[in-house]
Amino acid sequence: EEANLQKIVSHAKEYGFVFPSSEIYDGLQAVYDYGPNGVELKNNLKLLWWKAMTQLHENVVGLDAAIFMHPTTWKASGHVDSFNDPLIDNKDSKKRYRVDHLIEAKAEEYRQAGDDARAQALLDKMNELLNREDFEGLRQLIIDENIVCPVSGTANWTEVRQFNLMFSTKAGAVADDSMTIYLRPETAQGIFVNFLNVQKTGRGTSMKIPFGIAQIGKAFRNEIVARQFIFRMREFEQMEMQFFVRPGEEMQWYEYWKQKRYDFLRAVGLPENKLRFHEHEKLAHYANAALDIEYEFPFGFKELEGIHSRTDFDLRNHEQYSKKKLRYFDDEIKESYIPYVIETSIGADRFFLAVLCNAYTEDVGIDAKGNEKKRVYLKFHPAIAPIKAAVFPLVRKDGLPEKAREVFNLLRYDFNTIYEERGAIGKNYTRQDMIGTPFCITIDYQTMEDNTVTLRHRDTTEQERVPIAELPRIIGEAVSL
Ligand code: GAP
Repeated sequence: EEANLQKIVSHAKEYGFVFPSSEIYDGLQAVYDYGPNGVELKNNLKLLWWKAMTQLHENVVGLDAAIFMHPTTWKASGHVDSFNDPLIDNKDSKKRYRVDHLIEAKAEEYRQAGDDARAQALLDKMNELLNREDFEGLRQLIIDENIVCPVSGTANWTEVRQFNLMFSTKAGAVADDSMTIYLRPETAQGIFVNFLNVQKTGRGTSMKIPFGIAQIGKAFRNEIVARQFIFRMREFEQMEMQFFVRPGEEMQWYEYWKQKRYDFLRAVGLPENKLRFHEHEKLAHYANAALDIEYEFPFGFKELEGIHSRTDFDLRNHEQYSKKKLRYFDDEIKESYIPYVIETSIGADRFFLAVLCNAYTEDVGIDAKGNEKKRVYLKFHPAIAPIKAAVFPLVRKDGLPEKAREVFNLLRYDFNTIYEERGAIGKNYTRQDMIGTPFCITIDYQTMEDNTVTLRHRDTTEQERVPIAELPRIIGEAVSL
């Protein structure tokens, strides 16, 4: 499994999708840069999400709030007081661990040894202690279970400490006058504090409940255990939507968005057997229903997107802290209330990883000489593929390059297309397979006579002869969802 992930990480780097951040300085943990093909793929994912949310919902509008917010925002949201991970240090190795990860690893050991009951009992005990924030109890559990540090091998542990995941910095020129501000750990709060601004202005007129606000933007978390490539990052991007509803009507909208979001993930090509819902049994104090849509990554089924019914928790707290009314007057029932909220939240990077893992394909075919030949390609849905078509002249003479450029110019305005006249056709096809280009178009001598080209399909490698004039329609149909 880890080997599969490693293959994908290497492929992503070699073919210009994802690079470690500041790699010439050996990288920065849990931070990544997107290369030429990666940024195209990520932009496509973001644009499709944006369209699905705003363009296809008359009652959802967009927002682009700042990363920095007034620090009281994070008091009201609960992040200052409870956006914490409990940590423990090993005194010998000086390594720091998340308490839940140490205990989960022990439970996994029991499970591997066939003792599921003991594993479950341990996890139940841990959850009970975490819920009560009984840190001494958690430390005692680690000692009683004889959990040792994977590096030093000793059980010489410090006390358990809470560690806040928000990054902070200072705003203002003079140290004394400056104020501590945070890099937002989620984009959602920018939506809540703008609730009335957007409600009043929406689509040129005011928005009527139910309505939603969608936003794409960076979020930052000082994750302690950052691993599994771009699954858990310290700087990442979220695509969130808060849907404001009349209290009491939240469950029907929860079901609506659950289905909508699942359908969206399916439409961009994630298969049914790799997606599942995971309803939360234990709810955060502000939620009255919550679920994750999980995707089967190479390291198992893990959260891809969260759908939460957050009640009026956020708006009510912002009312209290800001002393500004955040209410809505509902014309139909002649009542003023704080709306309830259904939230959908997906990480753009995690979504990227899911579609990349899903696209990575190794096939064994038979070559012209009858030998087995391995072929690697990325079978992205054409709608999200970084490059839609690549145009090649068969030879670099006799007017073929000029003709190929004509075809390139016909397509490039509507589709991200590349033109390449160097290299052998076979090698060019292989390179395009590696970055998931669904169509390769070759211009040959016959083209000069009848204006037809060879159109090669990525997934089947089949080639067909089609008129140049048909290309925009064929590609256009393939790239629409
Ligand atoms: N506003 C709700 C919220 O932020 P969350 O479950 O903490 O909820 C939502 O995050 C989504 O953001 C996750 O489902 C995941 O896709 C993404 N996400 C969260 N932390 C992340 C991280 N450290 N790196 C990459 N993506 C992350």
